[in-house]
Amino acid sequence: MASILDKINQYTEELKHWNPENAEKVEEFRLKFLVSKGVLKNLFDEFKSVSSEEKRALGKVLNEFKQRVEQAYNEKKEALGTTDQDKKNTSKIQDLSLPGSGVEIGSRHPLSLVRKEIVEIFKKLGFTVAEGPEIEDDWHNFTALNFPAEHPARDMQDTFFIKKQEGNDIALRTHTSSVQVRMMESGKPPFRAIMPGRVYRNEAISARAHCFFHQVEGLYIDEGVSFADLKQTLYHFVQELYGEGTKVRFRPSYFPFTEPSAEMDISCTICKGAGCNMCKGSGWVEILGCGMVDPNVLENSGIDSKKYTGFAFGMGIERITNLKYEIKDLRLFSENDVRFLNQFHTELL
Ligand code: DAH
Repeated sequence: MASILDKINQYTEELKHWNPENAEKVEEFRLKFLVSKGVLKNLFDEFKSVSSEEKRALGKVLNEFKQRVEQAYNEKKEALGTTDQDKKNTSKIQDLSLPGSGVEIGSRHPLSLVRKEIVEIFKKLGFTVAEGPEIEDDWHNFTALNFPAEHPARDMQDTFFIKKQEGNDIALRTHTSSVQVRMMESGKPPFRAIMPGRVYRNEAISARAHCFFHQVEGLYIDEGVSFADLKQTLYHFVQELYGEGTKVRFRPSYFPFTEPSAEMDISCTICKGAGCNMCKGSGWVEILGCGMVDPNVLENSGIDSKKYTGFAFGMGIERITNLKYEIKDLRLFSENDVRFLNQFHTELL
């Protein structure tokens, strides 16, 4: 049996000429020298049984040899080799003809879909789209809109106040009507715009109420605008959104910022007027508030109320969406449950 030293010399010679041309050869080298039953391990095993005298001389030589083997392997591996993990990964993608995994795309939120639909209908009638801030002052949210000082809507129960400020508190807007005022203050009539946005109210969250929701406000101010224009515009809107033949009715109502004011009902989209859960058996559902802009609001916003008249309306996007898709729980809109959201996948408008 060749001595350890002979073997080391023989392998050292081999090492000198070792010049692998690819990663496979580097791997062969590892399997020969570095694994648990490889050359190095065997030499160290043999080393255990030599006399202690020999050990002293041999130990250094053996350790140096080990270092040379490891260094040679590391250098070549760096230059040519791939890691074991790389190997696993490459073997996985070897069949490049296999179909790839699909790219999942998101879908529009139902409220975005409906908002977009509403905007498109009014755009065709020549309405522009405007936006305003969600953090609003008392003037734009209440005072300019003709809310009396003691009006309950200003109450802490309805409004999220942010800052008490002498005569002009700061709050989260409770409706998009504030954008009407901003628009009239900063421009000249005629105005024909819709104003979509998020609004906030201090309500306990339940299936039927939420502390935030979405509205679309509408404003049309010009010379000689009448209630007939209001009715015709909203009638057209309903036919476009819910289909020809949807019936419309106006009920007298009250809003501080319109005179006269009305609420508009449509024939129930679910039962077509026969009576169901959605319309509580009446065949009608309310979808918006509207009216002729109160002259006080025009004057507050710097518009000559002798020369100009106009109408305004405001609707909740959640309500319109519920009627379109029969969604009964408002909380679904903000829970981000993909099982709910995925149902609108096909509606990538
Ligand atoms: N701002 C009202 C609300 O939040 C909705 C509304 C009613 C807006 C009548 C209007 C309107 O512009 O004319 O309940």
